[in-house]
Formats: sequence, C-alpha cells, structure tokens
Amino acid sequence: MKGRLSAMPTLLFIAALMAASGLVSEAADSKASFTDNFNIMWSENHFTTSEDGQTWYLALDKETGCGFQTKQSYRFGWFSMKLKLVGGDSAGVVTAYYMCTENGAGPTRDELDFEFLGNRTGQPYLIQTNVYKNGTGGREMRHMLWFDPTEDFHSYSVLWNNHQIVFFVDSVPMRVYKNNGEANDFFPNEKPMYLFSSIWNADEWATRGGLEKTDWTRGPFVSSYKDFNVDGCQWEDPYPACVSTTTDNWWDQYKAWHLSDSQKMDFAWVQRNLVIYDYCKDYERYPTLPGECSLSPWD
Ligand SMILES: *[C@@H]1O[C@H](CO)[C@@H](O)[C@H](O)[C@H]1NC(C)=O
Ligand SMILES: *[C@@H]1O[C@H](CO)[C@@H](O)[C@H](O)[C@H]1NC(C)=O
Repeated sequence: MKGRLSAMPTLLFIAALMAASGLVSEAADSKASFTDNFNIMWSENHFTTSEDGQTWYLALDKETGCGFQTKQSYRFGWFSMKLKLVGGDSAGVVTAYYMCTENGAGPTRDELDFEFLGNRTGQPYLIQTNVYKNGTGGREMRHMLWFDPTEDFHSYSVLWNNHQIVFFVDSVPMRVYKNNGEANDFFPNEKPMYLFSSIWNADEWATRGGLEKTDWTRGPFVSSYKDFNVDGCQWEDPYPACVSTTTDNWWDQYKAWHLSDSQKMDFAWVQRNLVIYDYCKDYERYPTLPGECSLSPWD
C-alpha cells in the first residue's frame, strides 16, 4: 500500500479489517465520503451532498462560486470522476475540473485542465482542455461532445505518466499530449498535483467570446459530481517510491505509454468530428508553433 492509493480498495480493505476484528457491528459503508478525500476550498455554504453522501453539488450564484480539492497530491496515475453539468441557460458559467500543483494561479504552477463552457439553452456545451508547465499555458483545445453533458453523468479522466497525458471523456481519448523523452519546458512531470473542481462566473470570456452574459435570474447554477476514482502515486516527502518509473502500476506500464489500437480509432473519430480549436493549428497566434506540436499523438 505504501505511497500508493487506490481509494476504493483501500477503504474496502479497512472496512473488512474492522469488521473482522469486531470493531464495527453495523456493516461499514464501503463508499468513501467526501471528506475522506477532499476539502472545500471556498464557500462551504455553496456545497451540498445527496442524502447518502455519494453525490456532491457545487452552486454558483451572484455572490460566489465554490470549489473543492483533494487532500492528497499525486505524481502520475489515473484520475477520474463523473460530472453532470449545469443545465438550461448556463451561458457565462464555467465548471473547471483540473489537476494543479497548487491552490492558486502561481507563476510556476503545472496544471492539466478540463473546463466546461456553458451556453444558452439548446446551444452546445464546449469542453476546453489546457496544459500548463511552470506557469505557462496557452495550449488550449476545444471540443464538442457527442452527448448533452447536462443530462447525465459522464466520466472525465486523465491518464498521466512520464510518456503521455491523455484526456478522456468516458472511454474516448479526446486529447493526447506527448512527452519527448528529454528535459523540456512543455511536459509537466516534475511536481505532484492535486485534483480540483470549481464553478465560477466567466462571462467576460467563456461563451461566444464573452458576448453572452450570465443570466443571474436563472441561478443558482449547480454542477454535480460522483464516483471519484484515483489510482496513482500518492505524494509523500521527500518522494514516494512509486514516482520513479517502476512499471509496477498499470498506468505506468508500456501499454499506457501510447493509445491502444481501439483507442486510436476513437481518437481518429474525435479528430475528424469534434475538434473546434487546436492551438497547434493557430498560426496567427503562434507563427512558430510550440515544440510539443511536432510530437505525434499516434506514437
Ligand atoms: C519557471 O519559471 C520561473 C518564473 O517564470 C523561472 O524563473 C524558472 O527559471 C522556470 N523554471 C524552469 C525549470 O524552467
Ligand atoms: C454556444 O453556442 C453557439 C451557437 O451554437 C456556438 O457558436 C458556441 O461555440 C457555443 N459554445 C460556447 C462556449 O460559446
């Protein structure tokens, strides 16, 4: 178990131990509660849970949004959660779901972002991803989804090892971000990250470039979460054993260094049908494209 967390099995194991040792008479709840893994970052009173504690809600109103973060940080692994986004008229509202080395926008942070950009009723949500290394981002991609993310829960996941970072929606790889095997200034692999989510007002830029403003009469805006799942290398100082590439863990093994054949087919479909914006094709913004743009996602 040392230095490595697989949240559910760990809890089940502990529950089994407690039951076996007669410490608990009632059946222990096998599911993790919010406070086992997370802290609220701000506005505790905009956070609620379902009665069984397994679904969490973040609310945004005119006063404030709300956010949470993991208690632990990780370097490499698989990170997944199910989200259901704000429905109806949600223009201007952004739900962010991301990994970051710190709670804040510090000048040397690493960050992996999923951002969900709300829209007017009946208009499509867009999903934006971004990668920061040492405070530098500007690596946006925007995609359409093939479903309405406000209707049901879908999983949004990140696979992160020293070879690639893959952003998944359900089982579909949406974006593949490669390392080049050398010291570089684009691939975050040196610092552990926490997982965060928050909901906030971004009507100065989010929807149609800021033209569509948040309609506060429709608030509060609520995003929902469940099924947090991490299988990764949990950080401990000075560093945990699992952080050096040992290939002990599936997310660090050869198979996880590139897409499988079936993932490549899904990824090709995404490339053909869902990409709205790719900074690696934005020659106006980057007359000389950033170095990572020459790395092939198919390798
Ligand atoms: C990270 O950024 C800081 C501030 O921008 C800079 O001083 C530092 O040299 C950078 N570190 C690396 C490893 O590139
Ligand atoms: C919102 O809907 C409009 C109209 O269909 C579309 O152009 C836009 O890309 C959508 N998403 C955002 C985030 O603006």
